[in-house]
Amino acid sequence: MSSGMASLLVCLATLSSSLVVLAQRGESCKAMSSPIYDCSQTIYSDCKNATFVTDRSTFSKNCSQVSLFWDAPLYNMTLLFDSDLIGPYELCLERVMCTTAFLTKNDGSEVEIKWEKFNEPVCFKSQQDIPIMQFRFDAGERWHCYGSFINFFFRQ
Ligand SMILES: *[C@@H]1O[C@H](CO)[C@@H](O)[C@H](O)[C@H]1NC(C)=O
Ligand SMILES: *[C@@H]1O[C@H](CO)[C@@H](O)[C@H](O)[C@H]1NC(C)=O
Ligand SMILES: *[C@@H]1O[C@H](CO)[C@@H](O)[C@H](O)[C@H]1NC(C)=O
Repeated sequence: MSSGMASLLVCLATLSSSLVVLAQRGESCKAMSSPIYDCSQTIYSDCKNATFVTDRSTFSKNCSQVSLFWDAPLYNMTLLFDSDLIGPYELCLERVMCTTAFLTKNDGSEVEIKWEKFNEPVCFKSQQDIPIMQFRFDAGERWHCYGSFINFFFRQ
């Protein structure tokens, strides 16, 4: 067998095993993340219902906005935004491409988020002095986006 043929077979074997991994995605997990670089961080998951806590205090105080890059978005990503803020505040989110976004209220019900204008963030008021706000981003079951930015900032 030529070495070209051998490497083709290796490629095919690698491809098929990664397809198996995709097909066997677990049901729920914690999302993984890259180290924080200035005001941004990459997150990714290998399951259908991933959860990630993004903590304001881990980013520089100089960040006027934080940018999470969801690498290869698929299925659900639940994000818990921990503001560390005591007292009322607002969390403002820019439009998140490639996903349908929902705010999860404290009673567990969800509200779909609609962005009127591309460049205008939508802001949400915190409820009952709870420092954490929860959102779910549903990227669907077919991979159609390389990645998606979740850009947000807090306002007091
Ligand atoms: C993801 O979580 C939701 C809510 O808990 C659940 O309804 C759904 O079945 C889960 N999906 C999978 C594939 O586990
Ligand atoms: C924040 O900005 C100030 C003023 O530009 C700078 O001196 C400081 O080093 C920055 N801090 C961080 C953590 O980047
Ligand atoms: C994503 O979450 C929603 C709501 O919990 C659920 O209905 C849906 O099945 C989930 N998607 C997957 C792929 O688990």
